Amino acid sequence: MCNNEIIEIKEAVNAIQEKASLKPEVAMILGSGLGGIAKEVEGIAIPYEEIPHFAKSTVAGHAGNLHIGRLAGKNVAVMSGRFHYYEGYDLKQVTFPVRVMRELGCESMIVTNAAGGINTSFSVGDLMLITDHINFLGVNPLRGGNIDEQGPRFPDMSMAYTREYIDLARTVSKEQGITLREGTYVASMGPCYETSAEIKMYQTCGGDAAGMSTVPEVIVARHSGMQILGITCITNMAAGILPQPLSHEEVIETTERVKTVFRKFILEILKRM
Ligand code: HPA
Repeated sequence: MCNNEIIEIKEAVNAIQEKASLKPEVAMILGSGLGGIAKEVEGIAIPYEEIPHFAKSTVAGHAGNLHIGRLAGKNVAVMSGRFHYYEGYDLKQVTFPVRVMRELGCESMIVTNAAGGINTSFSVGDLMLITDHINFLGVNPLRGGNIDEQGPRFPDMSMAYTREYIDLARTVSKEQGITLREGTYVASMGPCYETSAEIKMYQTCGGDAAGMSTVPEVIVARHSGMQILGITCITNMAAGILPQPLSHEEVIETTERVKTVFRKFILEILKRM
């Protein structure tokens, strides 16, 4: 049923393996402003446009690279730059790299993002361990024929984020003296930020952080049996939580401020995964 997709995944995998012989075990997706770690991968950076069937970037200067190599003692595949639904891609395109990284050999995935804090006990600059998510995108990347080779038609999502990695992140945060928040990430479509009323609704629904990414990639990764760690950087308080407007500048400023702590935290977790 999904022969075309399987062929496309294999073509992408073959193209990557022609350039990189190392077999990655951990996939990483680095969110807005959090991509600096990718430069530390000892290996090769493959521009997305050189990988067959990867989406073409819509944003000038935001092409993105897939880094394959060694980082913190692990073989990794690191995406610096991800595809978002709001850019106009469909969710098959958004999640295609996850399928490819799975097929390259990755059994685990670290996914990171920037998000607005809904939980009023959070502060701007906090890191939040994603313990669960709510899909408010209104679409699902698994819609359509199932790729039986990768996973079941009706995959379980009751523990989407791996218990063992949650415990590991808690341990590392204590050792490093980092305040690590925990909570539910809510994904909406964007690209506009939420209204204050939407954030109030998310709060009522149990949401702790609001963003525009991550959920599609996690659904596809779980579908194929990957183990997942999700870390959010609370780059701003969500709409209506504080009496001030939201801006992309604030998001970038916060990731810039937090990047040293974030880097040290992620690398130590990766080392011990
Ligand atoms: N809402 C949605 N996405 C975001 C936000 C937000 O407040 N901050 C960073 N990404």
